[in-house]
Amino acid sequence: MNLLVTGGAGFIGSHFVLRHIAQRPDDTVVVLDKLTYAADKEFLDPVNERIRFYKGDIIDVQVVSEIIRRYDIDAIVNFAAETHVDRSIADPIPFLHTNILGMQSLIEVCKLFPKTLLLHISTDEVYGDLEDGERARKPDDPLTPSSPYAASKAAGDLLLLAAVRTYGIRARITRCTNNYGPHQASEKFIPTVIRNALAGKPVPIYATGKNKRDWLFVYDHCDAIEFLLTRDDIDGRVFHVSADAERENMDVAKTLLRLLGKPETLLQSVPDRPGHDWRYALDSSELRGLGWKPAVTFEEGLKKTVDWYVERAGR
Ligand SMILES: NC(=O)c1ccc[n+]([C@@H]2O[C@H](COP(=O)([O-])OP(=O)(O)OC[C@H]3O[C@@H](n4cnc5c(N)ncnc54)[C@H](O)[C@@H]3O)[C@@H](O)[C@H]2O)c1
Repeated sequence: MNLLVTGGAGFIGSHFVLRHIAQRPDDTVVVLDKLTYAADKEFLDPVNERIRFYKGDIIDVQVVSEIIRRYDIDAIVNFAAETHVDRSIADPIPFLHTNILGMQSLIEVCKLFPKTLLLHISTDEVYGDLEDGERARKPDDPLTPSSPYAASKAAGDLLLLAAVRTYGIRARITRCTNNYGPHQASEKFIPTVIRNALAGKPVPIYATGKNKRDWLFVYDHCDAIEFLLTRDDIDGRVFHVSADAERENMDVAKTLLRLLGKPETLLQSVPDRPGHDWRYALDSSELRGLGWKPAVTFEEGLKKTVDWYVERAGR
């Protein structure tokens, strides 16, 4: 398979590239990444000799088309996105640029290359939040996003589903819960807790810390993407990826402090994020029905994550 991985120098994309090359060493892998603040090209160092890397923007139809033509690309896996909710609240425009116009540009490319499959990575945040006790969201549920980030992702998903119907392009969408693991940008929740705790600084927790997230270890997420990438007969569909590891933010922070040997007195409540979603949960029974399941428990995954950040901080 010849693959184009967009956003492959970011958190999830870099894991996907490393994993794919380890498992399918004969494949051609091209990475296109704008190298925003969230990227770290060093994550790809172990496979530098094995990939072709392009610094660029998915909005550039000419560049993406040229890559597809030159490497006879069979599938695009799109991780490229602006992803931080707090940044989207402060300045939504870059989110509209990449998550909406960038998506439309990839659609334009797929119209030119109808055999190329587009596997697009989306998020549970497109459904907005759930109350306690409410059933987990299913792929056909209405999209009611709360933040500019989530709204831009929902718009991208809808454009893609419309393009499947109108132009007959080949696409699949995955929506996953909160990922965690090595390589995540330092401003996200788990890296922030670890970084501040290691430095002995206050660990900020929005409001009461009772908001819940459903956690997915990044290796499991990449495994699910690979699984869906290589299956036949699922074009045009949306799949949920989750590990059913719902935890309150405060509990996650306390577990991290315990793993780091740091006191809970570091925890400091800060004013809530505007529009803060209470809870997310996805029903991933369709994917599990095809034979996929997560392999890493939350406790194992969190330990691996802490070890990676501690090792990195000690360099
Ligand atoms: N991290 C999570 O918990 C999570 C949860 C649900 C869904 N997702 C989705 O998974 C995907 C990957 O998320 P992530 O956490 O790895 O993100 P990230 O922010 O760590 O990485 C995004 C990557 O995309 C690149 N990029 C941004 N704009 C680009 C553009 N216009 N052209 C080319 N490259 C561009 C960045 O340089 C970066 O390398 C995103 O679509 C995100 O919405 C992530």
